Order: sequence, then structure tokens, then C-alpha cells
Amino acid sequence: MSSDAFLGSRLEYARHGLREKDLSPNPLDQLSRWLEEAVTENVLEPTAVCLSTVSASGRPSSRMVLLRELSPKGLSFFTNYTSQKGRELEANPNAAMCFWWGILERQVRVEGVVEKLAPEESDRYFESRPFASRLASASSPQSQVIQSREELDHFQSHLLAEFGQNLTRPPHWGGYRLVPDRFEFWQGRPARLHDRFEFRLIEGIWKIARLAP
Ligand SMILES: Cc1cc2nc3c(=O)[nH]c(=O)nc-3n(C[C@H](O)[C@H](O)[C@H](O)COP(=O)(O)O)c2cc1C
Repeated sequence: MSSDAFLGSRLEYARHGLREKDLSPNPLDQLSRWLEEAVTENVLEPTAVCLSTVSASGRPSSRMVLLRELSPKGLSFFTNYTSQKGRELEANPNAAMCFWWGILERQVRVEGVVEKLAPEESDRYFESRPFASRLASASSPQSQVIQSREELDHFQSHLLAEFGQNLTRPPHWGGYRLVPDRFEFWQGRPARLHDRFEFRLIEGIWKIARLAP
């Protein structure tokens, strides 16, 4: 794609507006509402979200994960605790998420502090997964350098030989919950005059403010 094509890209957002009175007073309920609408619109992987973490030296990094639970406590996802994100979250629990549902012209940003899920919660989710997913996540040394795909097959065969179908969750894999203290709901509008509403948690109360686009 040429740089002319990038410069010429001018999508007009006109599907929806967003007013303060449209918003739920609780941003977790508002996010749940927008997620349901993304599901209804057949968005591919509607719960896919970009997760940003920060290393001990202050360098940020981002990658996609799947949101697996949205509850009053926060937003949960599952991963390898020894991966890059796992190591960064260990050193610095501050994290941010960003959803983008193009067809709905909507973005949601979430910021807060991440905590590990209780082992029983991670066990419950691990047990609910298909065997192939359990085997893949238990055997893959996520984010480490490997020599070939065959090495992955070798890790899998090794685990299969050891545990067979009785594979339980290894301690290096499990869930995290982002406990949010800031949300932003962004709705694309014509001529770049987008609607943005920020929720900040101040002394236990969510305060709403409109932000300039
Ligand atoms: C749509 C999508 C969903 C993903 N979901 C997850 C997930 O839920 N958990 C996970 O560990 N990696 C998931 N990944 C892979 C991550 O983006 C990433 O490659 C991996 O977690 C390693 O990241 P890290 O090296 O920064 O720790 C997903 C990737 C995509 C594209």
C-alpha cells in the first residue's frame, strides 16, 4: 500500500451519536451493552481487545487478548504468566485495554491495575476449554524463542505422554483481572467531531465528563 493510499483514507463516521443521557451510570454496564451490540452486529471476535502493559523500565508493549469475563470486579483474560505480558504485569500491574469495533465506529479504552485471578477461577476456566486448547496453552513456552514448529510438537507430545487426558492447569498459566478506574467511550461522528465520554472512579463513585475529540 502506497503512502498516498494512507494519506487519502478519509472515512466519515455517521452511524450513531452518543449523549450523556444514553450512557449507563456504571461504565461496566455500558461496556457490556456495547459488547452485546458488537455481538449482534457479527463483529469478528467482538471480545478481542488490545492489552497494553509496561515493563519495569517504563517501556510499553501491546498485544491482543480475548476478554473472557466482564463482572462488577473487572475485565478478565487468560494467558501464560511467564510470557512478556506476564513478566511485565508482575513488575508493574498498571495496564490498559482498547476495544475497536469498526462496523459500529466505536472505541472503548479502559485503564487500571491488574490482579491475578484466584487459582480456582483459573482452574475452572482451564477445565472449560477444549482439550487441544488446554494442551497448547500448557505446553507452549509463550514468548520464548523456539527453533521450529517441530519443537512445539515435541513439547505437546511430552505433556501428552506424561498426563494424557488428565492434563490439569499448570501453575504458569491462568487469568488476570483488570480492575478499572478509568473508561472512555468513543463514538465516531461526521467531520471528526466525535463523541467521547470519560468515566473516572473517584472515592468509589464513577464521575462522567465529555472530552473534546
Ligand atoms: C484476536 C487475538 C486474540 C488473542 N487472545 C489471546 C489470549 O486471550 N491470551 C493470550 O495469551 N494470547 C492471546 N493472543 C496472542 C497474543 O496477542 C500474543 O501473541 C501472546 O499472548 C504473546 O504476547 P506477549 O509476548 O506480549 O506476552 C491473541 C491474539 C489475537 C490476534
